[in-house]
Amino acid sequence: MLTIVKHPLIEVKLDIMRDENTKAKEFREALEEIASLMSFEVFKDIKTHETEEIIKTPTGIELHKHRLDEKIILAPILRAGIGMVDGVRKMIPTARTGHIGIFRDEETLLPHEYYFKLPKVENPLVVVIDPMLATGGSAIDAISAVKKRGYTDIRLMCLVGVPQGVKAVQTAHPDVNIYLASLDEKLNEKGYILPGLGDAGDRIFGTK
Ligand code: PRP
Ligand code: URA
Repeated sequence: MLTIVKHPLIEVKLDIMRDENTKAKEFREALEEIASLMSFEVFKDIKTHETEEIIKTPTGIELHKHRLDEKIILAPILRAGIGMVDGVRKMIPTARTGHIGIFRDEETLLPHEYYFKLPKVENPLVVVIDPMLATGGSAIDAISAVKKRGYTDIRLMCLVGVPQGVKAVQTAHPDVNIYLASLDEKLNEKGYILPGLGDAGDRIFGTK
């Protein structure tokens, strides 16, 4: 399943990120804020339960406190996925975080895994996070790496994708729901998303 999270606030913030004149600080802020906004959709269906813990409202009413049923692991793909994690964590402070190190060879566009560490949690919902879904190679490898460790409940949260990347992930991992803020047009000859926003990692960390 593909969900495009459409919202006027996301649209306006995405324009800030697409603008080549936007500096790293504003780029990072917009990315983090969009990640927060997208969380409403990505986690829309997770369940809560009433605990024994009581809270008392200023109007004198006692209520059972709610807690999320699911244990959630955020799994950003390094580097650019890091830029979205704090935005999601602000919405779900109890989420644990792992890291998946994958970079895409600039010539072949093939992904290479160099690091993997997820917290050990029983039956969690694992959300693989990366702003860019281009050929889909990095996301496919990241999801395979997560599955290899025995996790089964997995979602993919990206910012901008193209039909080619979406199709590739859906073919390799039909059980994984994909969330995007925008489905862009296509890739250029260098594998960059058009219109896209350039190299997300470089723009977040100012490496170019
Ligand atoms: C970018 C991006 C994705 C990947 C997407 O990372 O953050 O991980 O490319 O491309 P794909 O869908 O074709 O695999 P990159 O490899 O540039 O690494 P970086 O974040 O370290 O710059
Ligand atoms: N990775 C990026 O950072 N940007 C793209 O447009 C494609 C892959």
